[in-house]
Amino acid sequence: MPKQEKRRMNRMAMTILSGLLLAFCGLAYGPSGEALPPASVKSVAGSAKPIPVPPPPMGWSSWNSFSNTIDSNVAMQQAKALVASGMQKAGYQYVNLDEGWWLGKRDQNGNIVVDPKQWPALRPGERAGDMANIVKYIHSLGLKAGIYTDAGEAGCGYYGPDLGPPEPHTGSEGHYEQDFFQFAKWGFDYVKVDWCGGDHENLDPAVQYREIAWAIQKAEAETGHHLFFSICNWGRQSPWTWAPGIGGVSGDIWRVSGDIVAPIVANTRSGSRRASFPHVLSNFDHGIHPEAQHTGFYNDPDMMVIGMPSLSDAQNRVHMSLWAISGAPLIVGADLTKLSKATLETLTNREVLAVDQDPLGLQCVKVAEPSAGLQAWAKRLAGSGRWAVLLLNRTTTSASISVYWSELGLPPSSSATVRDLWAHKDLGPYTSSYAANVPAGDAVMVLIKGAEGKTTRFAVSSPANEMTGGAALASCEACSDGKSVTLGGNKTFTFRDITSAGSHADIQIAYINTGQTPRCAELRVNGQTATRIAFPPTGGRNSVGEITIEADLKPSGAKNSLTFSSPCNPGPTLDSISILAGSL
Ligand code: GLA
Repeated sequence: MPKQEKRRMNRMAMTILSGLLLAFCGLAYGPSGEALPPASVKSVAGSAKPIPVPPPPMGWSSWNSFSNTIDSNVAMQQAKALVASGMQKAGYQYVNLDEGWWLGKRDQNGNIVVDPKQWPALRPGERAGDMANIVKYIHSLGLKAGIYTDAGEAGCGYYGPDLGPPEPHTGSEGHYEQDFFQFAKWGFDYVKVDWCGGDHENLDPAVQYREIAWAIQKAEAETGHHLFFSICNWGRQSPWTWAPGIGGVSGDIWRVSGDIVAPIVANTRSGSRRASFPHVLSNFDHGIHPEAQHTGFYNDPDMMVIGMPSLSDAQNRVHMSLWAISGAPLIVGADLTKLSKATLETLTNREVLAVDQDPLGLQCVKVAEPSAGLQAWAKRLAGSGRWAVLLLNRTTTSASISVYWSELGLPPSSSATVRDLWAHKDLGPYTSSYAANVPAGDAVMVLIKGAEGKTTRFAVSSPANEMTGGAALASCEACSDGKSVTLGGNKTFTFRDITSAGSHADIQIAYINTGQTPRCAELRVNGQTATRIAFPPTGGRNSVGEITIEADLKPSGAKNSLTFSSPCNPGPTLDSISILAGSL
């Protein structure tokens, strides 16, 4: 059968299969007609409790340093180094195998055939060619294991002439359920799904990744094993608008841009790819979509290149500061057996890691750029009046860069404390602003704690609000004013007359999700393009949870409308929204 035709048939088979599955499960449809996953799918078999929503994942990946030469020895050495270096203690836990772990062979039942030499038995009683062997090894060190596939029929190796003889069938298209079940059964904890084949075949990423998310949820239900979902379609078709919450029980990440490593130079499968500082800066810039990021759901500017040849210690520190202030996944791509003391200190600075792992999960926003390349970035942290601030000098001469309290929404002439996070040093109280001299191409990262003003709460029961599509207020014992509204189907709920001092608002949403998977909603501010928000499980009917999101509002007391609808059915139950005082 010609290749194109085979792909068409595969896709058709998948569509029919998913149709059957959906019909069987009694699927709901969203307002825009998209099919929705059955509410009855439990994400983890037998688990009554919702799984906590994770901070951005931290770990290591094979791709940047080992390209397609990954095997059992490499994985074991890197896992050992992750522990011995102290990185595990600092919070790094994933050992992720990227492309090259599989050469594309399937048996007559479509099961992945693993090369027994590449993945031998590691202990007595094990069978060579069983990926569970390496997973068990990684788990035995108290770490977690990650695996990789492509959403299309072929993986990236097939399309890269620089990678040597092609591996035509290393993608999962036509085998989604089979492959994700297999990954979960082998014991993997994390799966990265690339987009080379999908891109080549002109597939729709929002559709493919949703199908994959269902396959993952099904695999979780069948095996009781959770797979963290990493979407890798390089920002194609703006994943920040459809990815949050797509991955089921406890969060997911989506790539926002191309690879951070420079393209491979020689015609070889081995060796380290080149790190480049300009790529670090541009991936950071492309990764800023604060409206899409909040606890459990993160923009991914790519694996880090810290510790790879060609970055200086200062550049490594800037790189770490950028990923931490944007709350990005911290997946190290360097060879962990070769890290210098300085690199290790950069990777394990606990105060900087705490900025990345902050429970609000928000991203930074640029609060000032008084002259080109002199920038102040700020990220709200959990707790009142706490901000991480990065003063970044992208120019070629050293310069003084300031951050003003008014830019953080703190009272302009108030006093706030400043702590240097790289030097681990309290710098003392400052009034109105803080300025640092920042060397060329470098950055200063500080924690600022000030007195935050009052939060303004808007309850669902305000008579100004509007409901359509059958949305109705219901009584809610646990809610702030005794009322709630549940979204889903065609229901919409609009908060009217919402005011904010600043144009960039941090909005806390109080809600209930009694399910075990995130529910989702779309938010339109003043009738503009919708953003997707994921609402993790909160537990029982009476436990109200909170997420904090970022959105642009009309400032200075002007009236805004915030319209929520839900492509999930049921959607979340809303209690109230609050505009935090520190809105910029
Ligand atoms: C793509 C991804 C990379 C890596 C390679 C493997 O380029 O973006 O992160 O997984 O494929 O070929």
